[in-house]
Parts: sequence; C-alpha cells; structure tokens
Amino acid sequence: MAKRVLSGMQPSGVLHLGNLFGALDNFLRLQAEHECFYFVADWHALSTNYEDTSRIREYTREVLIDWLAAGLDPERSTLFIQSHVPEHAILHLLLSMITPVPWLERNPTYKEKQENLEGRDLSTYGFLGYPVLQAADILLYKADYVPVGVDQLPHLELTREITRRFNALYKPVFPEPQALLTEIPKVPGTDGRKMSKSYNNTINLSDSEATVRSKLKTMVTDPARVRRTDKGNPDVCPVFTLHKSASKQAVIDQVNKECRTAEIGCLDCKGLLADALVARLTPIWEKRRELAQKPMLVDQVIEAGTKKASAVARQTIAEVNEAIRIG
Ligand code: TRP
Ligand code: SF4
Repeated sequence: MAKRVLSGMQPSGVLHLGNLFGALDNFLRLQAEHECFYFVADWHALSTNYEDTSRIREYTREVLIDWLAAGLDPERSTLFIQSHVPEHAILHLLLSMITPVPWLERNPTYKEKQENLEGRDLSTYGFLGYPVLQAADILLYKADYVPVGVDQLPHLELTREITRRFNALYKPVFPEPQALLTEIPKVPGTDGRKMSKSYNNTINLSDSEATVRSKLKTMVTDPARVRRTDKGNPDVCPVFTLHKSASKQAVIDQVNKECRTAEIGCLDCKGLLADALVARLTPIWEKRRELAQKPMLVDQVIEAGTKKASAVARQTIAEVNEAIRIG
C-alpha cells in the first residue's frame, strides 16, 4: 500500500525562502511518491495568537496560494484547512482524555515558547494541549510519515506516545507515525540570522524581482571583507549559504573559489545569486498571477481538499468511537 504523508504549516504570513528550501521543497518531492495530506494549521495559530486573530484568515489563504504557486498539485495532494474539518477537534478531545498532563508540561517547546513569546499570556489550556491537537492532526489520517523540522521532533515523539497509549488502552487503530527528517538547510535571512518573519529579514515567494534584487544588495556578507580587494571566506557568508540552496553547482564552485582570492566582488556574487533566485521564483510568480486573476480556483481547491480530508476523517472517528465504545 502507498504510504501516507501528512504535514501542517501554521499561517504566520506569506511564505519565504526559508519555508521553500526547508519544508515546501520537501512537500513537493513527497507528493511524487506518496499519498499526501497537507493542511494549514489555523487552530494551532490560535493557540499563540488568540488575542489578535485579525490576520489568521488572510494568512491561511496566502499559505494555500503559495503552496499552489510553488507546485503542490491538488490532483496529487489533498490540500485543506484544519478548521474546515471539525473531526480534528473531536479527536483532539478524545486524545486529551488519555494524555497525562506531565507529558505536556515536560515538552521542551512548551517552556521555550512561553519564554520567547513574552508579552503574551500562554498559560492557557489550549496552548498546553498544542501537541495533542497536533497528534490528532496526524492520527486522524493514519499518517505513516510526517515531514517536519528538528524543532518538531518532541511533538512527534509525544504523538507516538499517545498513539501507543491509545492502541494499548482500546484497540490498535493507529499506525505509529514516523518523522521524516530530511536534511533541512539552514536558510539565513538578509541580516545573516535565521530567515524568519519575526526578524524582518525574509525574501518572500511573493516578492517582485526588483524587491528580491534590492534585498540582496543590502544583505550581510563576510564581515571581514570590507574592500573589494579583501579576500573573503564564503564559509561564514550568508550569501554563499543561499547560493548553496539556489545556484547551480558550477556557480557555487566558482563563488567558493573566486571569493577566497578576491577575484569576484560581493556585488557580482549577489548578482549571480539574484539570477538563480529569479529563475527559481519566476514560475511561482507566474502561477501566483494566474491565481490572483482566478480566486475561484483557490476556493475550489480548498473545497475539494476539505471534502477528501473529511471523508477520511469521518471514517477514522467512526473507528475510534468503536474502539472506545462511545458515540
Ligand atoms: N506544529 C507545526 C509547526 O509549527 C505545525 C503542525 C500542526 C503540524 N499540526 C501538524 C506539522 C501536524 C506536522 C503534522 O510547524
Ligand atoms: Fe559572500 Fe559572495 Fe562576498 Fe564572498 S563574494 S563574501 S560569498 S557575498
């Protein structure tokens, strides 16, 4: 039987190169070989943004548009929105009954986020239960594989523990999902730190060519290379890191060599990177334009995805009710 893949993304804004080279390229690769379910986790977004919900709907749609523009194919992958399939909430409730609170309290991302997102009151029930909702997302579709970044591994482990507990308490309804940790490149932003919306250093899939080029012009380079005649070290330069994700091997080799000897200057090096990025993004821009002209297409994808996901979700809930002997 074909293996089933499931993953979710929070709607935190338009997608950027970090999302593309990190998660999305992976999603694209997987859809060629597996039965894939990809959804926008808008309820998860609520767990940290419940005080300001003003942009969740807009961002949810933007993520879906970026997915389609980047090449996720609704004929191959089931694309949907979490809150459109209420079975996620039903399974979340049922799993919450069997999940010990200490499992959640010792989840490392729980404490980290509480500290990092200061200014928000995250002492809520829903925030503590974030991984239980994630477990429900995964188990509802009996996913075999879950492509995620390392930061999500604790949540995956918790999902596996909840799975074992459910299967042992009631009936073996669920396969134990496995994380698919493909090598995710570190994608630096224009300031050299990790590319992230909260650092305001992103290059977005929806940026225009002019914007991409101008963002690169001011991008941080090897700080020791001040003058054109200074030799550089690409190993410490975030521009080179982006080259490694975006450029052809010949260009990467050229930059790697000519930077060290000061044969190439940073402006030319950035120009080569801009060309590679523009080549990569051009089909995405074209598809985005097409979708902007036909917003109904996006609605249809969401509707069809919701239907497909709901059919699977209803079936699982029926089996779960049978196993628990309730409902
Ligand atoms: N927690 C994930 C993140 O922040 C998003 C997510 C929600 C998810 N549900 C999921 C990922 C289920 C994989 C599977 O990135
Ligand atoms: Fe970085 Fe390229 Fe400049 Fe070298 S030439 S320091 S790799 S931007």
